[in-house]
Amino acid sequence: MCGIVGYYGPKDPKEVIVNGLRALEYRGYDSAGVAILHQGEFKRVRAEGKLVHLEERLKEEVFDGHLGIGHTRWATHGLPIERNAHPHCVDGVSIVHNGIIENYAELRESLRAQAVNFQSDTDSELVAHLIAQQIKVGKNLLSAVLEVLPQLEGAYSILAVSKDQPNEMVAFKYGPPLIVGLASDATLVASDIQAIVPHTREVIFLEDQEVAHICGSQVQILDSRGEERSRTPVHIDWTQERAEKQGYPHFMLKEIFEQPRAVAQALAPHLDLENHRVKLKVELEESFLQSLERVFIVGCGTSFYAAMAGEYMIEGLARIPVEVEIASEFRYRNPILPANSLVVVISQSGETADTLAALRLVKEQGVRALSICNVPNSSIDREAQAHLYMNAGVEIGVASTKAFVSTLALLNLLAISLAKAKSGGELKAEPDLVQGLLSLPSHMETVLVHEKFFAEAAQTLKSFRGFLYMGRGINYPIALEGALKLKELAYMHAEGYAAGEMKHGPLALIDSEMAIIMLAPKDGLYEKTLSNLEEAKARGGQIISIGSGDDERLRQLSQHYLALPQTHWMMMPLLEVIPLQLLAYHVAESLGHDVDQPRNLAKSVTVE
Ligand code: M6R
Repeated sequence: MCGIVGYYGPKDPKEVIVNGLRALEYRGYDSAGVAILHQGEFKRVRAEGKLVHLEERLKEEVFDGHLGIGHTRWATHGLPIERNAHPHCVDGVSIVHNGIIENYAELRESLRAQAVNFQSDTDSELVAHLIAQQIKVGKNLLSAVLEVLPQLEGAYSILAVSKDQPNEMVAFKYGPPLIVGLASDATLVASDIQAIVPHTREVIFLEDQEVAHICGSQVQILDSRGEERSRTPVHIDWTQERAEKQGYPHFMLKEIFEQPRAVAQALAPHLDLENHRVKLKVELEESFLQSLERVFIVGCGTSFYAAMAGEYMIEGLARIPVEVEIASEFRYRNPILPANSLVVVISQSGETADTLAALRLVKEQGVRALSICNVPNSSIDREAQAHLYMNAGVEIGVASTKAFVSTLALLNLLAISLAKAKSGGELKAEPDLVQGLLSLPSHMETVLVHEKFFAEAAQTLKSFRGFLYMGRGINYPIALEGALKLKELAYMHAEGYAAGEMKHGPLALIDSEMAIIMLAPKDGLYEKTLSNLEEAKARGGQIISIGSGDDERLRQLSQHYLALPQTHWMMMPLLEVIPLQLLAYHVAESLGHDVDQPRNLAKSVTVE
């Protein structure tokens, strides 16, 4: 989604802003722009497409001012073309905006009635007009913003500047994140901590309906009526992991290979290695866990598929009923949340708008919410009452990989902890389960060896008409995840199916141009999965099967058989997903796609 960077300080704003936007590139965008003070006016430079195009245009530009704002835009209203790129500048006012102004049509009509001419098709430009109108009637930038705020509906974070106040910025938000960074001689505003940490670790996370008034290096936080609020900056303990590919051609491939480490880091805080026990470090009392009657798990995209796998783990091991739901459905269906429930919200970024809204709804109903996030201090992390951290390290590729396996590792721990709580603190299988978890990183290393196969097979695979991913039980959500990866990276038709559903429709799709990816580890459903595989083979499907250990039957049924190490059924998904990620990566790469930033997608989905 869109990225915002603003800077006031002694350094060259062009450098600081462009570097900041580069740190936000991973979020996904389709145009970029800056507006920086020069000779008392904001000089605007914008470009379609990647940041390099903007940098090219900025090469010869010099700016003598010390204030500037920049933006990477992920199109919502209006095509991703230069005219619609931010900043939007009207009569000396420049703004950048992340989110959606929902009463856009109404505001546009009212401005049109006042003979306002529009330069773009965006909802964002309207905000610049509204602020500029207030300044025209004598308001300063801050009062103009306070006047405009009640007119805006929707989800937004906005940073505004005015040429009349050359050392001021006003930032305000309702929804998408906005962070103020306080350096000794400079002030920054950004939508993401990554753009701030190179300059300072002292930050203020703006709350919804708060306004930050930055005047030089003084920062005042106000509520939407203009009343001052006392906010103490927080120190961010965040070692900035440089966005470097370290020799890999893409961040995604690097992140796939980082998965063993990600899992080890997710598990480490919660394992008592001496006694082979799980000691979940989370703010949920034992008595609460013991009395727990229902678990809900909510997320979007890959996080939702992790949630589905979590359902199999918790129901299978702890025998507590689990309901899993896509956040965008959950938030609007008025869910019934009984007392003695726990809602787990999963979000890598911690900023997904629907998941955040689901969390808020849960809290309103007085039910406990546990977040599983990768980004500490993200909105979801800050608002949840209990927290588990993926500890996967910064994930840059838009396609989620290492965050997924880290989440699966945490869900294993949660299932074990709930099972223990339910059985009065003792779980016979615990030491074996812990041993299984400890072996995961080395098992994952051995699975990564299959990379060579997919690198070679990609040329053949990319010519298939479609892909059907199938599995049963806990392998089913992994089939869904495999299909999602191929869709988002290779833009090819791929479907995930519960293998038992094949006869109920998808069997009609199968012919020699259809690739079947079958997940068939030796678990309780192995024989049934093999029957489904026979059915697919009989219709001429081209089969790649992924199973556990040496499996001659699977080998016979498949064009290619990939053997994974055998482990506990709850842990197989962490191994199975790796070949599926590699398949999607290599097919997309061989098609010449932008693997790290697939078309139309964003890393952090801060609008619904
Ligand atoms: O940051 P989140 O985990 O909340 O993101 C949820 C989805 O947007 C995300 O998983 C998306 O589906 C990924 N691009 C999948 O690779």
